Amino acid sequence: MATFTERMALVSVLWLALCLSGSWAVDKSNFKTCDQSSFCKRQRALKPGESPYRVLLETMELTNTRLTLQLINDNNKVRLLLELYRLQGNITRVKINELKPLKPRYEVPDVLVREPPTEPLSVLSQDENGVVLSLGAESQRVIISARPFRLDIMEGHDVLMSLNSRGLLAFEHLRMRKDTFSYKVTSTVASVWDNIKRVFSSQAEPEAENKEGADSANQAEAGKEEEEKVEEGMWEETFKSHSDSKPNGPCAISLDFSLPGVEHVYGIPEHAEPLKLKTTDNGDPYRLYNLDVFQYELYNPMALYGAVPVMLAHNTKRTTGIFWLNAAETWVDISSNTAGKTVFGKMLDYVQGSSETPQTDVRWISESGIIDVFLMLGPTPKDVFSQYASLTGTQAFPPLSSLAYHQCRWNYNDQEDVRSVDAGFDEHDIPYDFIWLDIEHTDGKRYFTWDPHKFATPKEMLQGLQEKKRKMVAIVDPHIKVDNNYKIHNEIRSRGFYIKNKDGGDYEGWCWPGSAGYPDFTRADMRAWWASMFAYDQYEGTMENLYTWNDMNEPSVFNGPEVTMHKDAVHGSWEHRDVHNLYGLYVQMATAEGLIQRSGGVERPFVLTRAFFAGSQRYGAVWTGDNAAEWDHLKISIPMCLSLGLVGISFCGADVGGFFKSPSSELLVRWYQTGAYQPFFRAHAHLDTPRREPWLFGPENAALIREAVRQRYTFLPYWYQLFYQAYRTGEPVMRPLWVEYPQDPATFAVDDEFLIGRDLLVHPVTDEGSRGVTAYLPGKDEFWFDIHTFHKHNGAQNLYIPVTMSSIPVFQRGGSIIPRKLRVRRSSTCMEHDPYTLFVALNARRTAEGELYIDDGHTFNYEKKEFIHRRFSFANNVLSSVNLMPDAHFTTMSWIERVIVLGATKPSKITLKTADGEESQLEFEFDPSMSVLTIRKPGMNAGEDWNITFK
Ligand SMILES: *[C@@H]1O[C@H](CO)[C@@H](O)[C@H](O)[C@H]1NC(C)=O
Ligand SMILES: *[C@@H]1O[C@H](CO)[C@@H](O)[C@H](O)[C@H]1NC(C)=O
Repeated sequence: MATFTERMALVSVLWLALCLSGSWAVDKSNFKTCDQSSFCKRQRALKPGESPYRVLLETMELTNTRLTLQLINDNNKVRLLLELYRLQGNITRVKINELKPLKPRYEVPDVLVREPPTEPLSVLSQDENGVVLSLGAESQRVIISARPFRLDIMEGHDVLMSLNSRGLLAFEHLRMRKDTFSYKVTSTVASVWDNIKRVFSSQAEPEAENKEGADSANQAEAGKEEEEKVEEGMWEETFKSHSDSKPNGPCAISLDFSLPGVEHVYGIPEHAEPLKLKTTDNGDPYRLYNLDVFQYELYNPMALYGAVPVMLAHNTKRTTGIFWLNAAETWVDISSNTAGKTVFGKMLDYVQGSSETPQTDVRWISESGIIDVFLMLGPTPKDVFSQYASLTGTQAFPPLSSLAYHQCRWNYNDQEDVRSVDAGFDEHDIPYDFIWLDIEHTDGKRYFTWDPHKFATPKEMLQGLQEKKRKMVAIVDPHIKVDNNYKIHNEIRSRGFYIKNKDGGDYEGWCWPGSAGYPDFTRADMRAWWASMFAYDQYEGTMENLYTWNDMNEPSVFNGPEVTMHKDAVHGSWEHRDVHNLYGLYVQMATAEGLIQRSGGVERPFVLTRAFFAGSQRYGAVWTGDNAAEWDHLKISIPMCLSLGLVGISFCGADVGGFFKSPSSELLVRWYQTGAYQPFFRAHAHLDTPRREPWLFGPENAALIREAVRQRYTFLPYWYQLFYQAYRTGEPVMRPLWVEYPQDPATFAVDDEFLIGRDLLVHPVTDEGSRGVTAYLPGKDEFWFDIHTFHKHNGAQNLYIPVTMSSIPVFQRGGSIIPRKLRVRRSSTCMEHDPYTLFVALNARRTAEGELYIDDGHTFNYEKKEFIHRRFSFANNVLSSVNLMPDAHFTTMSWIERVIVLGATKPSKITLKTADGEESQLEFEFDPSMSVLTIRKPGMNAGEDWNITFK
């Protein structure tokens, strides 16, 4: 019989063999379907119908801001406690838990930025059928019906959202196991159980029972009265060779939401799916369970590396959102009464007057925890973004340089390799800011170390990059090599910081270093210790231009169930089951904190993560994981990042070129052209792929790639300002068209083009051999100017754009002003003091507006108001720059070297008036064929007030 270690070694060999074999596509059998996940199967077997839950109206209590009432399940007499809060900014929070669970159920910590501020609730009316509450000034009301329990949110006569209207509320109460025959209580499980009971019994005794409550005085008793069916998978479950001991038995929860009038729902990333979510009646629900999916397949609802349990619903009248705060494995079903109906069918309904209102129904199912759901009522998309931001925070404001181009591969082999790649970029005149090192740079996959031969003098290497104003990212993964000669391992073990297995020992799994332990990042003391490891004297060989990348933090466990951790692993008093989807967030949180601390709180961190959850936007960037060099993977990068942006995570990118396999030169060029217009712009490649630095594809392709990267650099001032805005407001940087054109149904499913901010529309070429693309230009009153040719196009049309290999169809909205820096240098930092060119694109009313944000680009001093934030506007033939933040201060050496007005008419003279009162006449050129006016060298400082008058 093989020993444990031998078995693990075998698994690892098999895994690697799979890695290296040419066979493409995910091995789906490694991952559960809903049917193979016992709680999903159980819950999904419940069909819509009359809910067994009824409201005990006499238990209702209303304090100023909190309504509570009990629900009883008439089948088993188990009671639930419902809490309802009205939160500031049109958010209603509904929590449902067991009234008296056998022990506490997990409530997700650390995701909300604070306890959300509440607003007063008041009862409008009440009778034996239910209660009506007012949600404040607008005519918004909550109607709670008693028999069966149902909750509707209304505004005027419109139902915005209904909960349990299909009767799918299900709450598996905690229970004692009755059939003990196959249940072996190990000493550890018993002691964990005792601990948990102690924690629970130390809590205040629930208040005295009221009259009806006394009938079923004890929850557990109530549970026992009923003949409970013990179904397969309730108390233990196996998947492939992995067994899940389920010491707490069944504890799943589920609830349905109906969205009348809604045909479009979005969000719940991460899935390799189109922007508009599909109905799931004929397949599996969308799954949210952070997994390292090897060679993921497109266009299916399988879980991927990250999970954000937030869905947006949109129609021409309103946008709303549902935030289901639960970190356990979760499945989301979507159905629609219009799905499958063709436009013709819908027309026929309309003509015949038989049309029911369109409606989307969704149902969330989670394995454990409680129901804690935030209903974000909009009404506009931007209201929903700010509502969600008020709960989970906004995008971390990144260092400016991290918005530039990143060069990565697994791996740059040694310092000489790094040096020569760096030199190659200069030789071929392609800018870049960051070069990346994957796992091979370490001493035997021991993170926080360097390979002593290949990277013998890391500081020298970093110093060399520093001299060119460039930076490096090195990987630090959360699996720690079990090795008594490795300081990090010894410290974590001796401090008791590892996650425990179900038997109480340190959990060990197989990952890159071989046998590895997994630090318990859910512990604040563990995270503080981890953060301290990034100090320059702890993490030897590092300096301030080294940043960090957290990979494999789902966590990936090669020999674990579904390539991740056993659900019965133990984090203090919780099971891994409860916290799984949070693990990656905590890893990135602790790492970002480490980078902040090493600089004494001065410098902004940059940390990339593969796994994420709601709130991860506060800690850095994400990417879409291990994609492939295929055209469809290039295409899917657009909806994948758009979906992330909708749920707060703006700093998103896909591996340029594709991670697995080798791109053709055409695909590589198209990918650079697309990536140059996506938020996180990094090329990356698998260890086994041939090298693909841009110049290896011949001078023509190198020139095309150079041009794409240079375009990115010219737009950095715009990207930076948008990230500042995302940090302030939670608005996505990369946006679906419908966010800006919410009343135009033609935009609702568009995901082959996108907006950057409000003012740039991008329709990248993502088809092989393409001769042209058809872009939808939204807005019936808009003009769109081709940024390359300055051609003007009208909005509300499908525009066919012929393309060549050098084409990147990008349009600037008429009515906008975009500052750019056209003197591209070898890194963004080298361009710090360079002058700006203002691109002023006029709309039909001959007005335009834009913003400029400038600060030092890398510190937290913006929090001390050390920045410039200006508004440019053009109206009545005056272009002016005004200070949006008069109490902020920063000085810049940058000046305005050029103003280009698109859609202009010819003036007879142009005068500049600066803040010191001086007036001067400016020289200009006018191209009547294109209506383009160019003012050369007006020379104002970018941080000052001025007016330019066109006469
Ligand atoms: C709340 O909703 C009302 C009505 O739909 C809307 O007028 C108001 O602007 C919203 N407020 C916020 C803060 O979103
Ligand atoms: C620009 O024009 C506005 C509006 O007339 C005026 O308030 C402002 O003082 C002017 N700024 C300068 C620098 O002349």
